[in-house]
Amino acid sequence: MAKNKNNQTVWSARIKKNRSSIYDKVGSSLEVDKRLFKEDIACSIAHVEMLHKQKIISFKVKNKILFGLNRIKNQIIKKKILFDRKHEDIHMFVENKLFEIIGEDAGYVHTARSRNDQVITDLKIWLRSKTVEIINLLNNTIKIIIKKSNKNIYTIMPGFTHLKNAQPVSFAHYLLAYVEMFNRDKNRFKKNLNQLLENPLGVGALTGTSFNIDRNYTTKKLKFKTTTRNSIDTVSDRDYVLDFLYSSSVCAMHISRMAEEFIIWNSDAFNLLNLNDNVVTGSSIMPQKKNPDPLEYLRGQTGNTYGDLFSMLTILKGLPLSYFKDLQDDKKKVFDTYDRLKSSILITNEILNNFKINKKKMIELSNKGHITATDLADHIVRELKYPFRKAYNVVAKLVNYCDQKNKNFNNLEMHEIKKIEPKLDENVMKIFDLENSIKSKKSFGGTSFENIKKMIKNYSKMN
Ligand code: ARG
Repeated sequence: MAKNKNNQTVWSARIKKNRSSIYDKVGSSLEVDKRLFKEDIACSIAHVEMLHKQKIISFKVKNKILFGLNRIKNQIIKKKILFDRKHEDIHMFVENKLFEIIGEDAGYVHTARSRNDQVITDLKIWLRSKTVEIINLLNNTIKIIIKKSNKNIYTIMPGFTHLKNAQPVSFAHYLLAYVEMFNRDKNRFKKNLNQLLENPLGVGALTGTSFNIDRNYTTKKLKFKTTTRNSIDTVSDRDYVLDFLYSSSVCAMHISRMAEEFIIWNSDAFNLLNLNDNVVTGSSIMPQKKNPDPLEYLRGQTGNTYGDLFSMLTILKGLPLSYFKDLQDDKKKVFDTYDRLKSSILITNEILNNFKINKKKMIELSNKGHITATDLADHIVRELKYPFRKAYNVVAKLVNYCDQKNKNFNNLEMHEIKKIEPKLDENVMKIFDLENSIKSKKSFGGTSFENIKKMIKNYSKMN
């Protein structure tokens, strides 16, 4: 319970009995929102400076409060002040310490302010810097992928649909798909900054205040861009929390898809890539095992992040305006999601730097499953001027023939091909070449080596 200098709660004049101790334990958010102490103090400093500028508090009181706040900050950093669960939250904790340090004048700090606008200001400031941090971490991921792509332009692998061999692709093209995803993630986080740059401070509990405050002053002081426009909405709004949780969920989902694919390719059945020893774990019973646990961690954590998003959506769905205690839980979700996403991105970066491609196996697999069948259909359309559907049927017959004879396109004799489509000539043989297939995919966004080289240049300029 938050207590003032006389060891009484700030509401003791009104509420006469001590609160249920069970509730006190669960109702305190200090263990969670102590992470906001710097933001909370910065917010109070800006508020107090504004109060003085507007002649709401005296020069002397302002200086006393600033002295106290700075002292609290330094002592928390030096661990000379410890957080203590008896306080309801970080705001009551700081206010209480201020009373301890400067006495009664601490009571001026909460003029024209409520914890309702205080907490959202703190959280927005925190989220702003963490959003920028995530964007920078993603920049690193993108750089690593581009480097890896550059080394693998000519690495040929089967592109899959339904996990069945579909058409040959360059491994770089596959990797660059993730650059697109992470770029979209970055942009999503960047867009979130718009709302995070609207200053909520000064809306009070829900109606604004009768004091002649200058909200634009704190907007500037706290490095916001604009000032929120409706006090009731401001106190009730947690869209920016949802935006962060949603953006994090999408980003985690991208990481998870990559992780899943790497798990499959690293399996003994596929054996397309090998993870270095620093990104695998062993088994307690099977001495031969090298398990891709870090990848599984990435996939698993994504579920927890979705959980945070859905629980926040659920908290908000039936909540009338404006402030309710239910909202207090937003911070735990934001902090947990941030911690998880940050470590996930760092682990992703580490994995990307620590795997080897099994090029031989990639080619071997590419030679299975008649992976150039679409190229052959296209060739027939071009050379024999058949409608695509007719060409498709010719190739389907040839595939069936190969399956019966246990052959690949590559080891067919010309007379066997002619039996199915007499108008085809020797030129058809080059169509079965994997490299040619990739080279031919010159359409914008396609897997041709030339496209990939251009895209790598573009991405390098962008990031
Ligand atoms: N600890 C509270 C939260 O995080 C601060 C706002 C409290 N406001 C109130 N009216 N109880 O949401």
